[in-house]
Amino acid sequence: MLVTTKEMFEKSMKEGFAIGAFNVNNMEIIQAIVDAAHESQSPVILQASSSAIKYARVNYLMKMVQAAVEEYPEVPIAIHLDHGPDFETAKMCIDSGFTSVMIDGSKYDFEENVALTKKVVDYAHRKGVVVEAELGKLAGIEDDVNVSASDAMYTDPVQAQEFVERTGCDSLAIAIGTSHGAYKFKGEAKLRFDILKEIKQRIPNTPIVLHGASTVIPALVEMCNQYGGDIPGAKGVPDDILHEASISGVSKINVDTDLRLAMTAGIRKVFVEEPNAFDPRKYLTPARDLIKETVKHKMTEVFGSSNKI
Ligand code: G3H
Ligand code: 13P
Ligand code: ZN
Repeated sequence: MLVTTKEMFEKSMKEGFAIGAFNVNNMEIIQAIVDAAHESQSPVILQASSSAIKYARVNYLMKMVQAAVEEYPEVPIAIHLDHGPDFETAKMCIDSGFTSVMIDGSKYDFEENVALTKKVVDYAHRKGVVVEAELGKLAGIEDDVNVSASDAMYTDPVQAQEFVERTGCDSLAIAIGTSHGAYKFKGEAKLRFDILKEIKQRIPNTPIVLHGASTVIPALVEMCNQYGGDIPGAKGVPDDILHEASISGVSKINVDTDLRLAMTAGIRKVFVEEPNAFDPRKYLTPARDLIKETVKHKMTEVFGSSNKI
């Protein structure tokens, strides 16, 4: 069933688990994610960035999401705009049937972020759509946002409270040490759980979102490299840290990079082992299977969202 994230987050906050939000770009990725959600009986958030929407086209995306909802009526599925860059994109998604949108004003100063977020919230709420906002800066590369590690700015808990009160946003993405992409940490992976705790104390009823939360699964990186890839030194957030986040007040965990690695690893293997194969189904089928297993592992072993529908 197509839902907003509001109902999902109420349950996740009450029962202490997190819901995976997985980036989608095409049919195989959507199928893999919802198959995993069905098999683990987990609620799920499908999210598309503005560049993903440009790539897949909004009507195709929405029709595929609708097909997934019809195929698995028992699975709560939300369709969410990831890193909405401006009011117009958020409005377009709301008008196209998205149940949730993110407005990412983290590139602006505090007052501009408040004003932009509030404008989106006012429009979205009139249409029954919920809004995720972002405060603080993640190191690394975001959609249209490039923040160098030295500029990384953890979310200030006092500001977070003021931001939520003034904007009325429904959930808040925070910066506590993660970053986007395959290179998150030079040394040991570490998140600022002390900041998360203080934020939860100040805004206990606001669902918290963790971006840049791929594990950069070593087996998938190795598989890519074994079959001709060149992704040296990649490092993400290990499962045990993500599990801790999921029981410590993080309600939504964003994953894109791990899906990209799974898809690429699956395709590369077929290309190397069967150089004469040229039927796309030959390499997209194992790629889809690998994404499904990756998502299922997160739902059942890491986020605690299985059997929570
Ligand atoms: O956080 C960004 C997501 O990984 C989406 O990336 O803009 O390349 O689709 P994208
Ligand atoms: P990863 O790059 O760690 O998968 O993060 C994805 C994300 O935050 C999408 O918004
Ligand atoms: Zn993100």
